[in-house]
Amino acid sequence: MKPTIKKPTIKIGLFGLGVVGQGFFKVIARATNAHAEIRRICVRDLAKPRGIDVPRNLLTDNPDDIFLDPEINLIVEVVSDPEMAWRIASTALRRGIPVVSGSKTMIAANLPELISLQRQYDTAMLYDASSCGSIPVIRNLEEYYDNDLLLEVKGILNGSSNYILSRVFDHGEDYASALSKAQRLGFAESDPTFDISGLDSLFKLVIITVHALGVYVSPKDVFTYGINAIHDSDIRYAREKGVKIKLVAQVVKVSDEEFTMFVMPEFVSPGKYIYSVDNEYNGVVIRGECYDRQFMFGKGAGGLPTASSILSDVMARLHGYRYEYKKMDYINRPAYTTDVTLRVYIRYSSTDIPGLLPLQCVHEQYLSADGNYVVADIVLGDLIKHRATLDAPDVFIANMTRFFVDRDN
Ligand code: HSE
Repeated sequence: MKPTIKKPTIKIGLFGLGVVGQGFFKVIARATNAHAEIRRICVRDLAKPRGIDVPRNLLTDNPDDIFLDPEINLIVEVVSDPEMAWRIASTALRRGIPVVSGSKTMIAANLPELISLQRQYDTAMLYDASSCGSIPVIRNLEEYYDNDLLLEVKGILNGSSNYILSRVFDHGEDYASALSKAQRLGFAESDPTFDISGLDSLFKLVIITVHALGVYVSPKDVFTYGINAIHDSDIRYAREKGVKIKLVAQVVKVSDEEFTMFVMPEFVSPGKYIYSVDNEYNGVVIRGECYDRQFMFGKGAGGLPTASSILSDVMARLHGYRYEYKKMDYINRPAYTTDVTLRVYIRYSSTDIPGLLPLQCVHEQYLSADGNYVVADIVLGDLIKHRATLDAPDVFIANMTRFFVDRDN
């Protein structure tokens, strides 16, 4: 007779029943090998109509129904409010309950503290769903790339802005209707300015950098510029040059001792891996000294893709997996620098860009009654210093990738 192996069962307390929470509810029902079940779901508003049929007895609006339930041995947290996400995650960790989370804003802001809570209370927090939806980028960086000479992680980390750019670029749609479609399809954040301002990509980049290089950089120290101010003339310029504009986040070693990171629209030429990453898809290029480039591609937004990543972390907990943050303990960790020169395109009209910014070398300049642009070199640190100038409504900036001439992908 075959011996029966009794598998441990994960009993989940789920916080949040929005797009991702609903996706998780559907995904877990299909995952027969997961040995996991949702025992309770905590929501803010019990009366809110949901797109799915959830047994009423699963729902509660009292977090203690989850925290004080001795049967619950894993918390899945997918709420949209970062303050609430922090309260849930930190309370759970202090109680020794492991957490699976998708809240990148909260994680990027509090990662050092979340790491010390995990260590202090000997429990785990997994969050692959926080970065790039269904693409398992965090666990791969944490495990596979540990001993490699990792040089760069670069890519499209936000599905909504990529969806908007694709619709505008490839389908001639206007920006506003593409944005509202991204919201309707459940790709955008509850406040979509996070997506289009580059902040969502920034938070993901901050998390990725911890797992890639073992260094935490506070989001406030990273240059971040989104696609809010993109204009037909920028699209025309890109088309004339035969390139696309993508919102790209990157963390790059600039020497053995230093790395830089930033989020900015970028002119991407055909042949680059991320050129063909369209719609809500994300694409991440990982470059290392010994293996050149690897490319990860997949759906970066949406309920089911993101929920599949949550499920993968739940399964990982079934096997006791946790992040060890080994790279953070390395003696020789690279230091963050913004002392690197970029070549950028800046479009402007009334703002005196050449007068206000310390441009180092002007390669191209176009002046007309309808608008101007300049292609010039500038130090990243100076872009940070002059960030307010770049927020003027007549200004748009994009990276020309010259900085990474030989490394560019
Ligand atoms: N709003 C996010 C995006 C969802 O569009 O990428 C996935 O993190």
